This record gives sequence, C-alpha cells and structure tokens, in this order.
Amino acid sequence: MKYMGSKRWMLQNGLGTLLRIECARTKRFVDLFAGSGAVACFVAQQTTLPVLASDLQSFSAILTGSIIARNKPLDADKVWRAWFRMARNFFPHISIPEVGIPTPAKVAACRKWSEARRAWPITYAYGGYYFSPLQAMWIDALRSAIPEHQPVRTLALAALISAASRCAASPGHTAQPFQPTETAKRYLNEAWRKDILVHTQQALEVIAPQHARMKGYAQVADANTMATQLRVGDLAFIDPPYSGVQYSRFYHVLETIAIGASCEVSGIGRYPARELRPQSKFSLQTQSLAAMQNLLSAVAEHKANAILTFPDHVCSNGLSGEIIKETARDLFHIEMETVDSKFSTLGGTSLAGTGKGREARQKARELILILTPKGYHRETWRR
Ligand SMILES: C[S@@+](CC[C@H](N)C(=O)[O-])C[C@H]1O[C@@H](n2cnc3c(N)ncnc32)[C@H](O)[C@@H]1O
Repeated sequence: MKYMGSKRWMLQNGLGTLLRIECARTKRFVDLFAGSGAVACFVAQQTTLPVLASDLQSFSAILTGSIIARNKPLDADKVWRAWFRMARNFFPHISIPEVGIPTPAKVAACRKWSEARRAWPITYAYGGYYFSPLQAMWIDALRSAIPEHQPVRTLALAALISAASRCAASPGHTAQPFQPTETAKRYLNEAWRKDILVHTQQALEVIAPQHARMKGYAQVADANTMATQLRVGDLAFIDPPYSGVQYSRFYHVLETIAIGASCEVSGIGRYPARELRPQSKFSLQTQSLAAMQNLLSAVAEHKANAILTFPDHVCSNGLSGEIIKETARDLFHIEMETVDSKFSTLGGTSLAGTGKGREARQKARELILILTPKGYHRETWRR
C-alpha cells in the first residue's frame, strides 16, 4: 500500500521486538492512531492479546478491521468469484473513453466524460484525475457490489481500498494527481494502465489468509475520546500526526471509497470540502500541544501503559519527540529508544522520480517512548 509506510519498516527494525516484550505484560492492546493498521495487525497476529484500533478516518478502520476482527482465514477465491459476478452485473453497458497516451486533450475529454457520471461517485469525483474512466467505473461497480455479510464485507472493502491506493495516479498519496505534462505524463500513463480488477483480486489474496489470534475490533473514533476508555492492563500505542496539514487531505480518495457516497469535490486535488473531511487537532499548530497534553493525561489517569513514537525533529504541526517527552515527564516514568526511520513528508510536492521538489520520503530518526504512569507498577499485570 502506498501510504504511511514508516511503521511497517520500523516493525522489522526494533519496534516489533519491543512490542512483543511489552505485550507480554499487557491484557489488551489499543492502537489510538491506527492509520494503515500495520501495528494493530502485527500485534493481533503475533500475540494472543485482543486488539482495539481506532482512527479518525473510516478507511483505516476498514483496513485494520479486515484482519484484527477475524480469527479465521477466508477463502479469497470464493469471495472474488461471487463479488466479481455481481460487479459485472452493475457495470454499465456504455462506451467508455479509451485513453492511449494521455495527452492534455485526451485527459480533458476523460474528465468531461467522468463529470457527467453523477450516479457513480468515484468516476464523478476522480475519473480523469486519479483514475482512468475505465478504472473508476470498475471501482464504482465493485463498490456497489460489495457483499453484505460480515466479515466478507470488510475484507472486500479493504481489498478495494488497497487496490485503489496502489493504482491511484499520484505520488504516494492522493493530495494531487499526476497531470499530463511533459514530465509527468509517463507516470499518469503507467498508473492509468494498471488493471484495478487484477489488483483487487491480488489484495484479496493477501488479506484473506491473515487474521488475529484473538478477535479484536476497529472503529472510527477520536484518540482523546478513546483514551478515556482505557483501563489498567492496557497498552496504548500512540503514533499521532506530525504534519501540520490534515491527513484527510491526503487520503480523501480512500475515504470516499470507504464511505461509498458521492460528494462535491474541487480544486486540483479534487478534495471534498474541508467540513466534510475529518479534522484533527493534532494537525493544527495552535492546538497540537494541548491535544497531546490531554491525551497523555487521560492515559495516565486511566493507569494504562503506552508506547509513543514521534520523529525527533520539530515537525510541521509544531511537535517533536523532545517536546512530547517534556510533556509526559510529570505523568510517566519514561524509557526511551531511538530508531532510524523513513517518514513521508505528506505535503512534499515532488513527483516520484522527477527529482523535483522535496522527496516524498525522508530519512529521519524517531523516538520511541515507553511510558508507565507514575505511582503504578506494571509488573503487577504480568500475564
Ligand atoms: C502517523 S499516522 C499513523 C500511522 C499508523 N501507525 C500506521 O502504521 O499506518 C496518524 C494517523 O492518525 C489519525 N488521526 C489524526 N488525528 C486523530 C485523532 N484525533 N484521533 C484518532 N486518529 C487521528 C490520522 O487519520 C492518521 O491515520
């Protein structure tokens, strides 16, 4: 998947080992900023703990829930056959523009054609931008045909979101699609040629066999609200935003597929209006520190242990690992580790491979803070 890759990498480089050790003295694992679900799924698959995961964005709850909410594998082939048969019935018998090499004129024609498909949310909003008209129509048909029954429904939606993320014509996230310029039309062409059906089927094959050892749960919720429901014996995992730009601006395409509803979009990035996208206080420079203080107070008050990760430098939301450590000092005993990491600049404007603008991923160091509330002996809860 093309996003939030840094935790997946860190799990192989120290974070995984640390989590296994800390989980051995934990009753429940709670991932408060689940994102791609990499960490929640790791713990659900590697330990026998129940995992609760939450995020402000629905696509995150779907990706994470597709694995942590099941304790058995599913048959990808069987799911695909039934789902695809249904999607084929939904697919309209209309002529869809063929693109070839995406010249500005052809792209403009694709956009015009797509904008006339009001009944097809993805085609209407993103056809001719992140997806070719054909890709967009298939995403719409697959989305309309999503199986009704759980856990197959969440599995299928997760596969579709993963496939859309892999095929989207954009550099790493969906803040801005590739345009048919001399430099970028090669990337646009490459992306628009991807077969969304093949990618969806492949994603199903990857996700279906994976499952938790103990059934857990993923939901859409604000981390600060979730933290008030923590209890003794919980290990909260805290990987908050570091960007001063809202995540919902970068992942709105995945969110639209998750929700499956049509909305008006505008601008070069085709964003839904700001008030229709989840807004996080952690991405507002003026509120991020207060949001972090409230979160840490709630974790400490509910006597939960926590692992918090954050880049060691000052990030665009005004926070840094050191600032957070200072904030936590009065509430927790702190152990600290530092690991090399690669983090997405999110707001980076570079086009992959063009060497222009900021690189979309930068090398960084990340602090891992292991937090035990003061006056509380976590050894009591050794399992
Ligand atoms: C740094 S990413 C987490 C990445 C995740 N650990 C992974 O492995 O993909 C931060 C996440 O926090 C979510 N988020 C931002 N503010 C939030 C809030 N107040 N409550 C819950 N989730 C929030 C964002 O939607 C984003 O998915």
